[in-house]
Amino acid sequence: MLEKLQPQSPDALLALIKLYAADERADKIDLGVGVYRTGQGDTPVFAAIKAAEARLVEEQDSKSYLGPEGDLGFVHALMPYIFGKDATMGGRIEGMQTPGGTGAVRLAVAVAQKAGVKTIHMGVPSWPNHAQIFSDVALEVRTFEHANEDGTANLENVLGAIRTAQENEAVLLHGCCHNPTGIDYTDEQWDQIAEALSQSKALAILDIAYQGLGRGLEQDAYGIRKVLAAVPEALIAYSCDKNFGMYRDRVGALYVMMKDSSLLDPVLSNLNALARASWSMPPDHGGAAVRVVLRDDAMTALWLDELETMRTRMRQVRDHLAVAGDVGTLDLRPLGQQNGLFAVLPLNKDQIQRLRDEHAIYMAGSGRINIAGLHMGNIEKFIGALEEVTS
Ligand code: LMR
Repeated sequence: MLEKLQPQSPDALLALIKLYAADERADKIDLGVGVYRTGQGDTPVFAAIKAAEARLVEEQDSKSYLGPEGDLGFVHALMPYIFGKDATMGGRIEGMQTPGGTGAVRLAVAVAQKAGVKTIHMGVPSWPNHAQIFSDVALEVRTFEHANEDGTANLENVLGAIRTAQENEAVLLHGCCHNPTGIDYTDEQWDQIAEALSQSKALAILDIAYQGLGRGLEQDAYGIRKVLAAVPEALIAYSCDKNFGMYRDRVGALYVMMKDSSLLDPVLSNLNALARASWSMPPDHGGAAVRVVLRDDAMTALWLDELETMRTRMRQVRDHLAVAGDVGTLDLRPLGQQNGLFAVLPLNKDQIQRLRDEHAIYMAGSGRINIAGLHMGNIEKFIGALEEVTS
């Protein structure tokens, strides 16, 4: 029976990891999958996480099951950073641990669907896995163009989608550091999005996977806090993969906000049942390490410092690219205004292939680059190669 299965192509983004590894050219540049890299091109374990892991090894006295909700100490310790001082909004928000942000997005749409959602609106381009997850759970996807050609966010399009969305429909929004474009809504635009959502019957699903890597931890939460203050209920998918560097440990959380705290339990019981049927329980180690960091003042200070160093380095790379301005047919100036790990360059397939074949520069087929793959030792080569393939 299994012979009937049609072969699937490997995930294009993850396939790039292997292609890059197999390339023997010493000056190769990896701008593919979204991992942070230092100015030396490394992706080290955060010092704060190393310290927390050492403490876990010393103090953890059991690896017995925790339950589908995972480590609630971890889930709760993150909340003030995401939701602000009134981290539960008067008891209206609760969450559970998930296997990475992917697990959180998957659980969010699964529970939304169980509640009757059949259609989800989202801006494109988006993280390719969004569409894959939605198709896998058979949600109808309606898309709108996220960005304008000048590198700013298209407010009219998202407002239009929210106004069109009916009951039993959801709207997906990236909280910050939009993947793949790096083009975020301004605070004023978020104010209008929140106002439109307050008039809508659609369910807001917020995906926040890069908090702290755009404008700063607090500023990056502006949009989601504004939306949550305006709507009666929402789902918030969160990833620690990037801002704690926990990629392979799969550390995420899904939060739900309800109109009233008394309405939370039925939703949580559904989330628990869905998680049990999917992965039973999330992997513990990464979430436990993040909990240890956030419960210790010195480790928290170290983490905040490391996060800020990452953010500042990426800003410097963006500024450097923006100063280059016109490069061949490209205008790199807008990259200076955008946020996070990613930007999309309007390159065609041939140009992307030439960058790989002739210059050992690897990027996604969509033209998305990982800003953190660039540093002072390779950025001029990158700019030169762009000039060459686009002139
Ligand atoms: C990315 O977009 O590169 C990251 O979010 C990694 C992934 O899982 O796709």
